[in-house]
Amino acid sequence: MSGGSVHETVLSWSAGRETVIGVRADESVLGAAERADLALPFGCRTGACATCTGRVVDGWIEHTRPPRALKDRHLAAGYVLLCIAEPRSDCRIEVGSDVRTELVSNPWK
Ligand code: FES
Repeated sequence: MSGGSVHETVLSWSAGRETVIGVRADESVLGAAERADLALPFGCRTGACATCTGRVVDGWIEHTRPPRALKDRHLAAGYVLLCIAEPRSDCRIEVGSDVRTELVSNPWK
């Protein structure tokens, strides 16, 4: 791959587990997690289904295509679609199926 920078990304599960992975500038968080043998939920891999939703608690993430599965208020609250999200800084992201459940079940979001 290219010699671009690698961002140290902390993945945090609701059970308290945390893992740090390096995400290259040209790969998605989901892709980097798979490369590290970490299982994260996903479906379409194109930003349409929200199965891969995470929430950025620290750092800067950019979507590489329109995140169709998220509404503006979700984006404002820090939710990202990990299949199309690339870090632009070191990050901390809440991951796992609970994050999506929160998105769907919380009436304020
Ligand atoms: S896997 Fe469907 S939006 Fe990411």
